[in-house]
Amino acid sequence: MAKTTKRKPRRQAPAHASSMIHEDQINYIAATPRKQRVSTVAASRKYAVAFVSGAKSIAKGWLKTFNLENAVGFGLPEIDDRYHIWRVPLVKSGTKERIGEVVIDAYTSLVSVNETTAPEVIEARLLGRNPAEKLTQRANGNSTQSLISFIRNTIIFGDSEQALLDMPSQSVDLVFTSPPYYNARPEYEDYLSYESYLLKMRRIIHNCHRVLGEGRFFVMNISPVLIRRASRNEASKRIAVPFDMHKIFIEEGFDFIDDIHWVKPEGAGWATGRGRRFAADRQPLQYKAVPVTEYVLVYRKHTDKLIDWNIRNHPDQRAVKESKITGEYDTTNLWRIHPAFHSEHPAVFPIELAKRVIKYYSFKNDVVLDPFAGTGTVGRAAASLDRRFVLIENEPKYIKIICTEMPDWLGAATKDVLFIGCQAPDTASILL
Ligand SMILES: C[S@@+](CC[C@H](N)C(=O)[O-])C[C@H]1O[C@@H](n2cnc3c(N)ncnc32)[C@H](O)[C@@H]1O
Repeated sequence: MAKTTKRKPRRQAPAHASSMIHEDQINYIAATPRKQRVSTVAASRKYAVAFVSGAKSIAKGWLKTFNLENAVGFGLPEIDDRYHIWRVPLVKSGTKERIGEVVIDAYTSLVSVNETTAPEVIEARLLGRNPAEKLTQRANGNSTQSLISFIRNTIIFGDSEQALLDMPSQSVDLVFTSPPYYNARPEYEDYLSYESYLLKMRRIIHNCHRVLGEGRFFVMNISPVLIRRASRNEASKRIAVPFDMHKIFIEEGFDFIDDIHWVKPEGAGWATGRGRRFAADRQPLQYKAVPVTEYVLVYRKHTDKLIDWNIRNHPDQRAVKESKITGEYDTTNLWRIHPAFHSEHPAVFPIELAKRVIKYYSFKNDVVLDPFAGTGTVGRAAASLDRRFVLIENEPKYIKIICTEMPDWLGAATKDVLFIGCQAPDTASILL
């Protein structure tokens, strides 16, 4: 069981969390006798998970991802307000024998993977086996032998937070994406606050962690966001989104590997005019650099194994050999690439950027996931490098672009693509 004494108290409640507590839940709290008023703290701290029923249903969802929901029952969940966590005891179905617990962060409603009993331990206890034996086998590499993912090229229309829940664990070999911008443009005003934006990103990163293979990479293209000033008397604001995102990656079980800088040619015409004021009057303190870079942050799903283990344990050694990068390559973390533009999407990245990431961080036939697919640049790059792709996008107009353009870049193989929640393009003409 996890030691709670080491856990540091968490940050303040996210500002948006109040919207998750329903009014009648607060009435319920007020009417509850003092001894049972655990949830008064929950209400004042605006926990996202304020009730036993909520904690149980999250634990059930987590068990479902491992097909354990029917074999496992629940003891009485308890909240530990010191650390803002719910502990949901797990018992063998139909008995009271305790076999583990699910630990849930009350602010974010995410299952804390490091503190929750590992699914293989739960499984072993259900079968009356000694879990230590099974874990030793894993440590020896016997049961963690990587398998080739059976996933085929897939396009999913929907919210990636939900869509990822339907994907098998460890079925993806690389995640490369660029997340939506917080409030940068009117069409992205989907978030009540910056905190709620970060919480949404956290949930998606959390769900990506589950579907990503052990020791494999999550690469994110991201940059600070400029919030333009509302009036002449106000200053514009720059939000350092990459640094907040970095914290989320670490907390969600990734190790930091690299910060690559995508450098765009200077004076390409896309600069924001940020340095104009200084250029005119040259006053100290007014200096503002025009940004010509974006981050390409590289993380690896935490494991005690070396990267060499991923290479040696790859089940298709021929693919490993064929994926070797020959000729010139980027020796520094400065990647000079021209930006790309799309007439119908405001924030596409260049296919060249996607190709470099895919080439350096995956093998042939691997599955590359983009949970914020936009126009499907990652799919195009993956296909051109003989990798498979899973693209998730929640805007109908962008899904339509992916589907319409796909026959041009995937040709006859379009007919084998799995389309979930969207219409497959008409492939009749290209098959002739
Ligand atoms: C920065 S753009 C990605 C552009 C893409 N790299 C390209 O080259 O076309 C982010 C995309 O994420 C999509 N998006 C935002 N929230 C989403 C969510 N919860 N699930 C799936 N897609 C989402 C937006 O509609 C947008 O197209």
